[in-house]
Amino acid sequence: MNLLLLGRGKTGSLVAEVARERRHHVAIAGARENLACAALAPAELFDVNAVIDFTTPQSVVANIEACIQAGKSMVVGTTGWYGELDRIRELVQQHNTGFLYAANFSVGINVFLDAARAAAVALSHGYSGQIFERHHVHKKDAPSGTAIALERTVREASGQSRALEITSFREGEVVGLHELVFESADDRIYLCHDAKSRRGFAEGAVRAAEWLQAKKGFYDFKDVWRELEK
Ligand SMILES: NC(=O)c1ccc[n+]([C@@H]2O[C@H](COP(=O)([O-])OP(=O)(O)OC[C@H]3O[C@@H](n4cnc5c(N)ncnc54)[C@H](OP(=O)(O)O)[C@@H]3O)[C@@H](O)[C@H]2O)c1
Repeated sequence: MNLLLLGRGKTGSLVAEVARERRHHVAIAGARENLACAALAPAELFDVNAVIDFTTPQSVVANIEACIQAGKSMVVGTTGWYGELDRIRELVQQHNTGFLYAANFSVGINVFLDAARAAAVALSHGYSGQIFERHHVHKKDAPSGTAIALERTVREASGQSRALEITSFREGEVVGLHELVFESADDRIYLCHDAKSRRGFAEGAVRAAEWLQAKKGFYDFKDVWRELEK
């Protein structure tokens, strides 16, 4: 595939590495090359099969709008824009493009979310639930998109309406640690996912772009990760 990667930061540069290992052609546009979405003009996207975005919460929505308007498929890893989800879903449907996003592209986190879904039954048996997340000091949003997704997953699976408290820590170079704790008067249940590197995100994002090829519609990675090619 011909991929255009937006963002050559910590995750974007790994996405480029993984995509090249999987024999895709990769062009990269950082903040300077993509000023006012310059890299997303229809003429620039002529040969591009999919755009992958790992940029910032401030720039991602304009990038998404430009891609959809140009009729290009898009994979979005950037977090911190989910207030706009419904509007973007409608835009994708209007323009009949392919769009796939995730708060977390790691397969491991998605297995963790399945475990959390099963454990959510504890809330109906007198347990309280809490979420703790730790990330590096450079992270721009808090709570993390993954913690927000984890909270929603547990709440929906339990059928309870009360939100779980999320506590965020920013320290050192922690890649991403998420803990879900259920507590009763008698015991505690801990579920924990600890990312050792960003490579799991990058692999998931590239495999997602492969999966999205020739598809139209609006997808969440959590609903499709089981179908990905190895
Ligand atoms: N979904 C997932 O699995 C997952 C995993 C990891 C991270 N993330 C999310 O992905 C995003 C990026 O994370 P990161 O750790 O890679 O951040 P980062 O290291 O700060 O990188 C962000 C990059 O975006 C570039 N950028 C800013 N505005 C841009 C624009 N308009 N067009 C193109 N590039 C632009 C910046 O370029 P310059 O350096 O040139 O300014 C920077 O290199 C965050 O929202 C993070 O939460 C998601």
